[in-house]
Amino acid sequence: MQYDAIYHHSVTEPEAFWAAQAGAISWFQAPQQILSQDDQGFYRWFAGGMLNTCYLALDQQVAEGRGDQVAIYYDSPVTQSFEQYTYQDLLSATARFAGVLRNLGVEKGDRVIIYMPMIPQVMVAMLACARIGAVHSVVFGGFAAHELALRIDDAKPKVLLTASAGVEFDRIIPYAPIVAAGIEEAHHKIEKVVLFQRWFKQVDVEAFGFLDWAQLNAQAQPIDCVPVAATDPLYILYTSGTTGKPKGIVRDNGGHAVALRFSMQYIYGVKPGDVFWAASDVGWVVGHSYITYAPLITGCSTVLYEGKPVRTPDAGAFWRVIDDYKVNVFFTAPTGFRALRKEDPDGLLKQKYNIESLRLLFLAGERCDVATLEWARALLGIPVIDHWWQTESGWPMLANPAGIELFPIKPGSAGKPVPGFNIHILDEGGHELPNGSEGAVAVKLPLPPGCLPTLWGNPDRFRAGYLDPFPGYYFSGDGGYKDAEGYVYITGRMDDVINVAGHRLSTAEMEEIVAAHPDVAECAVVGIEEALKGQQPVGFVVLKSGTHISDADLESDLVKMVREKIGPIACFRRAVVVKRLPKTRSGKILRKIMRNMADGKDFAPPSTIEDITVLDEMRDLMGELHIGVAFR
Ligand code: COA
Ligand code: AMP
Repeated sequence: MQYDAIYHHSVTEPEAFWAAQAGAISWFQAPQQILSQDDQGFYRWFAGGMLNTCYLALDQQVAEGRGDQVAIYYDSPVTQSFEQYTYQDLLSATARFAGVLRNLGVEKGDRVIIYMPMIPQVMVAMLACARIGAVHSVVFGGFAAHELALRIDDAKPKVLLTASAGVEFDRIIPYAPIVAAGIEEAHHKIEKVVLFQRWFKQVDVEAFGFLDWAQLNAQAQPIDCVPVAATDPLYILYTSGTTGKPKGIVRDNGGHAVALRFSMQYIYGVKPGDVFWAASDVGWVVGHSYITYAPLITGCSTVLYEGKPVRTPDAGAFWRVIDDYKVNVFFTAPTGFRALRKEDPDGLLKQKYNIESLRLLFLAGERCDVATLEWARALLGIPVIDHWWQTESGWPMLANPAGIELFPIKPGSAGKPVPGFNIHILDEGGHELPNGSEGAVAVKLPLPPGCLPTLWGNPDRFRAGYLDPFPGYYFSGDGGYKDAEGYVYITGRMDDVINVAGHRLSTAEMEEIVAAHPDVAECAVVGIEEALKGQQPVGFVVLKSGTHISDADLESDLVKMVREKIGPIACFRRAVVVKRLPKTRSGKILRKIMRNMADGKDFAPPSTIEDITVLDEMRDLMGELHIGVAFR
């Protein structure tokens, strides 16, 4: 069946469509209702079904004869460690670590925070939680202690799992002090912290009051999978919203497994036995879905890469990994390719490797500029597919569905709606816009399986942020338009969320930190286009009257504060002092105008602007300080 027929079936008869797809995974007990609504009125998939995600990822694969197939190729150029785990190895390690969790008193429904680098143990930890029905919440290693504390207080975990260190290029990042500071700052008290010692960094666990991973592992017995309800949560993944408090995206077990299995076949065009590599981090949704769960549920080999596109050791790293493990389908963020293009514009390093195994390259996580897509396409000679999704959806919403039929690629578009996603472009009043007109990208309810059913502990925020803006629809937060052939173009966020090197960050959160500086009267942080990382946050700051701090000292203070509170990945490196900020008469700061001005885009000042001359001042200042178009 071709795309049009599959898509049409998925949106006109979603229950029949997904009931058939649910047959592709094993259930301990078949779902009793395909689609239903919970007591909050939120849609739920596969109620009454019982399954276990770890069983699908490991036990079933071994039972079907894949015990000796490689499940994980662990490749760590930064530590020179290269290991392979078969499905049987991974099953044994996971079943035993599930025993560790059980010995620590972790039961079905308890939360476990995982703050770990890209090592096989992080996947063991995630899968072990799934095995006993515990809810994991992985926190990206580039986040600082404060971010960890926010997540501890929201998820209220019983146990936290960590490692002695991560590695950034050639720099060792000790994790124990960050974990200790996060625990200290949080109000919720965690019962146990378990630390995995990496060979190059030993930690005195007793001094921190932590437990040693290897010791606990030696004492534990392997345990079996615990059946959970399809609607039980598998994990919580926090993501940036429009306030200082991250949102806990909930993922269920049943819908997630069905959606990921579907996506591997129909979007990524992979089959069991293929090698799938998502060069991301398990701390992001891409890592959850396409490093850990989807490849294993599909019986593929996954690559766990603890390195970067460049400088580990060079811009040939991607090609080496593809050659070493004969990767068939590769997924990364456009920033990775922009970094390659900068270092090796003619792609000469690729010539050292044989990458004939590679069939498809998928890019997502941020807007993909046409030049980067064209460069990758010319270099590789295979389809390069931009596709669009977000932490909330958990799997692609727009794509070129290579597993169904590959459409002509239109650079600049993230493809057509994926089966299950009934995508519409709406104006402010919620009316459908004609092709070519830009508006809000929204999905008609119900969302397909795999998407967030709610926010952890906060159904009101779920309703207010995603459902209320356009009744009957899920609002993605992105703007975009459709063309006459149904391709969708994503033009960017409509809120204050920004995307720096494929990392989703909140400018509102940065503003809270900047505003806390004793010399700052008010501020606006905006995401400005940047050549390598896509966007870069820049702070515009109005000083309190009577303060004497120099611009340089203020910038250095603010950079330090944001780095300490959010972490290095915030990439907050510029703060400039302005006399005043552009505002409406009611006091709303016109951030979008500032952003468009810096990006060299057209903008129309609203009639409600307080004083239009502020825009000239701002334009002059940006030019003088090389902010925006000038600093690219
Ligand atoms: N733990 C600790 N620190 C981390 C980290 C982690 N897991 N990840 C990033 N950081 C730090 C970096 O070391 C850097 O610190 P610095 O300011 O002290 O130099 C800072 O956070 C910013 O990181 P980043 O924006 O990634 O810049 P970079 O210069 O280190 O690397 C690239 C640039 C292009 C190589 C890198 O951004 C990259 O590989 N991008 C691909 C993006 C990607 O895969 N995104 C996943 C989403 S799908
Ligand atoms: P995250 O939740 O971290 O995956 O970030 C999701 C956001 O990244 C989306 O809401 C978009 O703003 C942006 N994004 C992801 N993929 C794309 C894409 N292919 N094109 C444009 N923006 C994208």
